Amino acid sequence: MSELNLVLLGPPGSGKGTQGERLQEDFRLPYWATGDILRAAVREGTDLGREAKEYMDRGDLVPDDVMVGVIADRVSGHEAADGFILDGFPRTTPQAEALDRELEDVGKQLTVALMIDVPDEEVMRRLGGRRTCVKEGHVFHVDFDPPKHENVCDICGSRLIVRDDDKPEVIRHRLEEYHSKTEPVIAHYEDTGILRRVDGARAPDEVGDRIRAILATLKMEEEL
Ligand code: AP5
Repeated sequence: MSELNLVLLGPPGSGKGTQGERLQEDFRLPYWATGDILRAAVREGTDLGREAKEYMDRGDLVPDDVMVGVIADRVSGHEAADGFILDGFPRTTPQAEALDRELEDVGKQLTVALMIDVPDEEVMRRLGGRRTCVKEGHVFHVDFDPPKHENVCDICGSRLIVRDDDKPEVIRHRLEEYHSKTEPVIAHYEDTGILRRVDGARAPDEVGDRIRAILATLKMEEEL
């Protein structure tokens, strides 16, 4: 593919972060996960972090103007010259429209919107057992992807914690936000013809293989 401008969509806990890390290794492209960017801002106590924290703790979406400000310069900047991987953005129709405009202004467009599909019951199971490293946000699961040593990150050795928004009542609210505000984004990309769906209920390696197959098919279609 000449340029891979990819967005990862899907409910909380569908595996966007898990697959995003693999895609980043495969393609060596900038990978921006808005949740990670916001959590880093909260840790550092920046204006963005202070503004976002109350929304995140409740499981609400952070306002669109704030989120568009976080992503706009990145996708149109020099670092994204060969493409990018976005995880967790866009999450509302206004965000999707702002992204389209931002890319159009620099003569680009999205290549593919990958929707990782997982039912709500599976989301509850996954997020209940998720452990995240405090330093770099690497992700594990107590049953499905356990770390070698309990509560220690295999990759950077830092401590593993339960995210504040992985409490059951907050997970349920994040799912409500997803169904009401993010599902319309899926329809937006269905209309523009770039949506591809992946069954995210399979094992991580199988999901990763399916994503690679989709991207290989897109590349072949482009070369025809
Ligand atoms: P964000 O961090 O983006 O949260 P999310 O979308 O809810 O996604 P998660 O990070 O919870 O899950 P994931 O899909 O990455 O799954 P993971 O790979 O970790 O956003 C947090 C908050 O920030 C939002 O609530 C909002 O307030 C704010 N925000 C962010 N972006 C925003 C935006 N654009 N607009 C407005 N607000 C925004 O996997 C989950 C678990 O399952 C892990 O334990 C993993 O090991 C396991 N797992 C993964 N794949 C599999 C598999 N195939 N089988 C079994 N287990 C698996």
